[in-house]
Amino acid sequence: MNKRKVEISPSVLGADLMRLGEEIKLVEKLGITWLHLDHMDGHFVPNISFGPDFVSAMRKQTKLFLDVHLMLSNPMKYIRAYAKAGADLITVHIEAEDDAREMLEEIAAHGIKAGISIKPGTDPEAIRDLLPLCDLVLVMTVEPGFGGQSLREDCLKKIPVLAEMIRETGREIIIEVDGGIKQENAHLAIEAGADMLVMGTGLFRAKDPAAVVKGVRRAAEGK
Ligand code: DX5
Ligand code: ZN
Repeated sequence: MNKRKVEISPSVLGADLMRLGEEIKLVEKLGITWLHLDHMDGHFVPNISFGPDFVSAMRKQTKLFLDVHLMLSNPMKYIRAYAKAGADLITVHIEAEDDAREMLEEIAAHGIKAGISIKPGTDPEAIRDLLPLCDLVLVMTVEPGFGGQSLREDCLKKIPVLAEMIRETGREIIIEVDGGIKQENAHLAIEAGADMLVMGTGLFRAKDPAAVVKGVRRAAEGK
């Protein structure tokens, strides 16, 4: 099997928020280059988390690639603030109320990367026409809103379907999975074709985070 490049985007939602500075240093020490920041509005999902100020605080602390996941009903009015705060990539949901095409164009207008996400109940076909505007597709493998849930393996079936759609566009688009990914099941997402694994509790609450990273790298090598 060919060696694949698979990376981890650690979700800060799973970190110890009282020790955030140390948690970020740990991510850097593990050789990880991304950080996943989940933003929730209490409307699109039944939970509330961070806002743009949190992104600017992160931006001052680290050079990690800030992968911002917006679980908001109306992301449009906040995209500018997140871009100015220092997001490197903003992902919005196709299920949000705002027009997906307009959101993706607005993100790109700020000179940063754009992602589209689908919830477990959404067919990949819903985003086919948007792929030319995307740098990343985020496949939710839990209902968005909370960290620490169990992986829904059925959602992984969407990955090969999306990979084929992406191939047809001729574009380089990252396939990211989010929700319930742990050291034990990371190989399932990798075998399905994921390039980027969001890991919250699976990394930050692990006894040995370095072993988790090693496990993912080995799985990517097909060992
Ligand atoms: C859930 C968030 C996830 C969450 C993942 O709605 O989008 O990014 O933090 O957490 P784990 O990896 O613990 O399932
Ligand atoms: Zn997320």
